Amino acid sequence: HRHIVVAVDGPAGSGKSSVSRASAVALGFDYQDTGAAYRAFALHALQSGVDLDDADAIVGALPSFRYAIGIDPARASSVTVDGVDVSDEIRTPRVTTAVSHVAKLPEVRRYMVDLFRRIIASTDRPGIVTEGRDITTVVAPDAQVRILLTASEEARMARRSAEVTGQSADETARQLATRDRLDSKVVDFMTAAPGVSTVDSTHLDFDQTVNAVVELVRAST
Ligand code: C5P
Repeated sequence: HRHIVVAVDGPAGSGKSSVSRASAVALGFDYQDTGAAYRAFALHALQSGVDLDDADAIVGALPSFRYAIGIDPARASSVTVDGVDVSDEIRTPRVTTAVSHVAKLPEVRRYMVDLFRRIIASTDRPGIVTEGRDITTVVAPDAQVRILLTASEEARMARRSAEVTGQSADETARQLATRDRLDSKVVDFMTAAPGVSTVDSTHLDFDQTVNAVVELVRAST
């Protein structure tokens, strides 16, 4: 029997990561944060001294990318590049600003899609929740459960500025808007593709949002 794949997409600040992780715990599934891989590769490119305007140089950094991440949702999964724990560093504004510039390149996306599919296939649990921007449409369009997690721009800005420390709420809001604008040129994660269920968390608290996801999984499997 094939394991269950739950694909979750949505914009920055929609609560995708925390909701997907908690849903995976509730379901006894693995959890894959695909944004972490794009972030780790952006960090690797920066560490390699690559100019972010030089597409060939960015693609040239792919073969030396050594990446690992845990998929057990019950543990704080550490992200490593070259065996070094970079879990905190990939969340810094420097990496967050760089990531859209590497994620827009088709060669980088092909590499990542392949990586994510291999990780999905490697789960030995009954299923895996995979979360990102193009999971419902590109990485796992045949997933048994596909969800677009949305929230109003206001709600997303408020949640993200509560998470980010060391900079003003205005600065965080500006960065989030810029990142969504750049990312939206590459993949559409603001509207649900045919067959994708929308969960709008604007007026839901965290537990209600997790319940909505878990119920969708239980109803369709
Ligand atoms: O989800 P998170 O905000 O951590 O993602 C970081 C960045 O990785 C996004 O801004 C986007 O550029 C890229 N990304 C992507 N496709 C995915 C997941 C993330 O392009 N499936």
